[in-house]
Amino acid sequence: MKNIILIYTTLLLGFISCTFNKKAEEGKTSLNLIVDSAFVFARQQSLFLAEKYKDQEGRLPRSFENNKDVSSDSRWWCSGFFPGSLWYVFENTADSAVLKYAELYTDRVEREKYTTDNHDVGFMIYCSFGNGYRLTHNKHYEEVMLTAAQSLRTRYNPQVGLIRSWDHNKDKWQYPVIIDNLMNLELMLWAADFSGDTTFKTIALSHADKTMKHHFRPNYSSYHVVSYDTISGEPHLKQTHQGYSDESSWSRGQAWGLYGYTYMYRETKEERYLNQAKHIANYLINHPHMPEDYIPYWDYDSPDVPNTYRDVSAATVMASALIELSDFVDEALGKQYMKVAETQVRVLASPEYTAKLGENGGFILKHSVGSYPANSEVDVPLTYADYYYLEALTRLKKKQ
Ligand code: GLY
Repeated sequence: MKNIILIYTTLLLGFISCTFNKKAEEGKTSLNLIVDSAFVFARQQSLFLAEKYKDQEGRLPRSFENNKDVSSDSRWWCSGFFPGSLWYVFENTADSAVLKYAELYTDRVEREKYTTDNHDVGFMIYCSFGNGYRLTHNKHYEEVMLTAAQSLRTRYNPQVGLIRSWDHNKDKWQYPVIIDNLMNLELMLWAADFSGDTTFKTIALSHADKTMKHHFRPNYSSYHVVSYDTISGEPHLKQTHQGYSDESSWSRGQAWGLYGYTYMYRETKEERYLNQAKHIANYLINHPHMPEDYIPYWDYDSPDVPNTYRDVSAATVMASALIELSDFVDEALGKQYMKVAETQVRVLASPEYTAKLGENGGFILKHSVGSYPANSEVDVPLTYADYYYLEALTRLKKKQ
């Protein structure tokens, strides 16, 4: 039976790929067909990856480097992305085997609800349990998410007005806040809504507002790390950790900013967040170092552009954000955002970036960059690239 399913799937994928290529040659492949084919593939590839770790208690996929699987336990900041990807695949395929794995891998992240030593609890719990809750209304998930939001709240210092991102490098940074931290506010907004405790929302807005004030340059590019003086509450250092230089535009950081202010507007309807998202989008779309296919280099200011690595994760975060943002702006601007996001998705769905079934360690997309300066995870698949790609596809599907 398993063999028959495998043969059937291979033939189906072959057929879709042929149609895809033939139509692409004619310049006529519809975006709908691309999205549907991407989910057919994502289902198979995700099941392949899920099966790999199913009996390895507590382990979650992280990457695939030098032809070897790389996994992590739930402590790694990315632990929520693979379960989140499975939820997106389940949402779009209704496959019960995918659901089973989504639940299994989501459970593996649960202990992170008590994380108070870094800000990533938002990524870990909201991408996994948050999507699971959205789709199943599982009562247990409510408790996990609320506990996680309470843990994240412990990292807020009212004197500074922001959630502290990291506890390391204390000799250098008094109170480091990274642009990525914007992504964790969605959990706080959910908790405010769910519990009626408005302090969650007050913290989220304060963090978003102070980030807008201090992380951004006049051209709407952003610093990676801003460290605050804990007495004055003012920045004492603006630096990078994963970008090319303190003054450069690290690509994923720019995408986190775009995504963050887009959902802050969705959730609060405060115009200042919409304006910020529009300014960031404008900066990115028109950046002289943005390639024609809109898959950014790992840092827009790397002196090696164009002979350096692309970061697919920056592209998927950006695509997903632009698709959402297109609903909040006037028609002409919305079309512009959708054109960029569509270009990104078409390229990502092509063999240049999408792996073959059973290859790439079971990840969907190739060519992401974790931290170039640390020579860590350079030009590899990463769970968050797949996660935001599947989210972008889901958002496109809802527009069909
Ligand atoms: N939040 C860490 C990163 O974007 O690499």
